[in-house]
Amino acid sequence: MEQSFTDQSFTDLVIGAMGPKTTPKMRRILGSLIQHIHDFTRENHITVDEWLAGVEFINRIGQISDDKRDEGILVSDVFGLESLVDSLTNQIGGAAGQSTETAIIGPFYRSGSPRYPNGASIIQKDVGGELAWVHGRVTDKQGKPLAGVELEVWHTAPNGLYEQQDPDQPEYNLRGTFTTDENGKYDYICLRPTSYPIPYDGPAGDLLRLMDRHPNRPSHIHWRVTKQGYHSLITQIYDSRDDYVTNDAVFAVKDGLVVEFTDASDEAKKRNVQFELAYDITLSTSDEAAAALKRRDEILLKKEQELAKTGQVQTAYRNGSH
Ligand code: BEZ
Ligand code: FE
Repeated sequence: MEQSFTDQSFTDLVIGAMGPKTTPKMRRILGSLIQHIHDFTRENHITVDEWLAGVEFINRIGQISDDKRDEGILVSDVFGLESLVDSLTNQIGGAAGQSTETAIIGPFYRSGSPRYPNGASIIQKDVGGELAWVHGRVTDKQGKPLAGVELEVWHTAPNGLYEQQDPDQPEYNLRGTFTTDENGKYDYICLRPTSYPIPYDGPAGDLLRLMDRHPNRPSHIHWRVTKQGYHSLITQIYDSRDDYVTNDAVFAVKDGLVVEFTDASDEAKKRNVQFELAYDITLSTSDEAAAALKRRDEILLKKEQELAKTGQVQTAYRNGSH
């Protein structure tokens, strides 16, 4: 019988073209990708012109990206993809209380921020804004304080720009690395963060316009919290006073990450700040994270075994945890 190019038999032909040296994982992932791309194309009856527009869009993502701009992450974020991947990656939970929730890292993380002693300010240059004293404790899920935890924090200036986007800010302005003391305590001075638009003069912005959406993120501080033997935490805290908290352009706000900056207490006023945030962090152990990963791997292994038996991606990805 002549091959049809528009139905599942064609999709099966493409998936079935993978050779015996393809690993089970690649067979599962690429088979599923081909299946979804073909289903999407059939469902929407994509024409050659529409496909070419899509190809051009993908090419532009690469062309506009450089070491200061990652359009691939921006486009993922507009689709909610980074938030979805982050949440799937960090489904750790566990019996003895929850660890602090994660959030996306976004495209503006830089490693190697200056190490400061507790209490120091991450503001290298006055860029305006309101000062805040942020302090708290890092513990494990049993409440035991963790010493020697590294906390990297970063946020934008009130003009909405991270230092690497802004020629008027010194390198690593509004970024810093702190270490918890023997009681698990940390503290630092920063700006009360402000909301800002994600870059929208490229493909990510085109997508936002096509979907009649705004580019704004609620005011937030990013954190990367690490300690040997513990699952690294990448997260953000969101200022509850910001309207975009319920309307984030990149879908990264979780209720547990919305915090109250309060007027400075007497203790905070000694540091000449207007606001204060008390924020404790709870880490999972690496073993807890590894156990969660093992459960996930078992589900995926079942799919790979089913694929090896039937070769049917459709069956394999529709069964299991979806
Ligand atoms: C950020 O929070 O830094 C960010 C996240 C997603 C897209 C753009 C920026
Ligand atoms: Fe940010």
